[in-house]
Amino acid sequence: MDAAPLVVVIMGSKSDWETMRQADEMLTRFEIPHECRVLSAHRTPAETAGYVGQAESRGVEVIVAAAGGAAHLAGVCAAHTVLPVLGVPMESASLKGMDSLLATVQMPAGIPVGTLAIGAPGARNAALLAVAILANSRPALRERLHQFREEQRRKVLAEKLP
Ligand code: RP5
Repeated sequence: MDAAPLVVVIMGSKSDWETMRQADEMLTRFEIPHECRVLSAHRTPAETAGYVGQAESRGVEVIVAAAGGAAHLAGVCAAHTVLPVLGVPMESASLKGMDSLLATVQMPAGIPVGTLAIGAPGARNAALLAVAILANSRPALRERLHQFREEQRRKVLAEKLP
């Protein structure tokens, strides 16, 4: 998207993209200007701090940060900004994402991270939560969220079992 991003989606590795593309798709569905980047708390610490530190002055309103394993990315992002940070724990091969979840969720008081579910549901919900935050000051977006819920409701009610 060309417009200045309102949401940035950061992930610790390109290997997270298959999951995090679902956040990208959801933000695109709601026509939210956003950008997705690979930045790592451990492999690119200086660049991560620089990118997140500049986000507020660029007009970004929400940061989504996804990482797996020793998943410190969301916490490191939160340490460098007062913008809302939504953490998405990636499902890891060895511990099925429990390591990612605990590393993301257990922040010290004073530096909040809003932690979503492990994996794809977390990716989709992080995007929806970002939309909900933006919708607090954008009535048209709030209306689209109502429509989304209504579509979801109708889809469930139309389900036919074999
Ligand atoms: C984390 O380590 C990434 O977020 C990823 O989930 C995990 C594995 O990364 P790769 O070794 O696949 O690059 O930093």
